[in-house]
Amino acid sequence: MAIKRLNDNSRIVNKFWWISLVCFCSKKYHLLKAFIKGGNKISILLSGDFHAGSTGELSNICRSKLKGSWGDKYDTIKFQIILGDAGFLWPGNERADRYNLKQLGFNPWPILFLPGNHEPVLGMDLGQFKVADLGFGRPVYEILPNVYYMERGYIYNIDGMTLAVLGGGLSIDKAHRTEGLSWWPEEQWSFTEEKECLTRMEGQTVDYVLSHVAPNSIAQKLFHSELEYSGDKFIDRVAIFTDEIIKVLKYKQFYFAHWHFDRAIKEFCCLWKKTALITKDSCEEC
Ligand SMILES: [Fe+2]
Repeated sequence: MAIKRLNDNSRIVNKFWWISLVCFCSKKYHLLKAFIKGGNKISILLSGDFHAGSTGELSNICRSKLKGSWGDKYDTIKFQIILGDAGFLWPGNERADRYNLKQLGFNPWPILFLPGNHEPVLGMDLGQFKVADLGFGRPVYEILPNVYYMERGYIYNIDGMTLAVLGGGLSIDKAHRTEGLSWWPEEQWSFTEEKECLTRMEGQTVDYVLSHVAPNSIAQKLFHSELEYSGDKFIDRVAIFTDEIIKVLKYKQFYFAHWHFDRAIKEFCCLWKKTALITKDSCEEC
């Protein structure tokens, strides 16, 4: 299975070498423009679930939408981070991946993503992917041209911004899914992963926490009514573990996705149709 995926992925990478070339040139031009316009004001774009664009999510992060939302700030964006459920490499969905790569390539920056719950990469051997050093203090994995996977449980440093990256979450519909094809048990953290992450994060101060799910205590408050609240949705070990993480870590703002709405409570912000721009000193949503 792993070998088959390797061949499939290699074929995508080889066939679309020109996308890499166009992205590379476009990125260099974009960075030069950003430097001229904004000096050293470099920002990172955060976006919510993408699901390989299966229900029109591309319209939230296409070039025209982002240019309209962010105006001149568009030119300061250096990276985009999808907060889980990116949905790349979904089995049998190669055509959608190719289409999405082309469309996302109109934005001149690399796409990064952390794991969600609907995330095929969770079930794959990362050894099959090219390891890339983008200067974050940790490697990332190039799973498609210009698309990089960030492992959860680590602190990344991007242009002086420190980001604690979490990820995963409960698929409440897993009973209707097939393991390895549409559901991956690795959506939940192993106890070892949790323990190592807690040790790593304890006492640290970061600028932002990026996650797929909110801490459990916050998720419940984000729902507007008892009707909207369904008990099953909140028995998520990842969310409960995330409550533990925020007790040991200092941070300014916490961004997540997963719930398919744009809501915020205190420093916790859920993204769906909105995106966020973060810099070392500021953050805003639009
Ligand atoms: Fe999700």
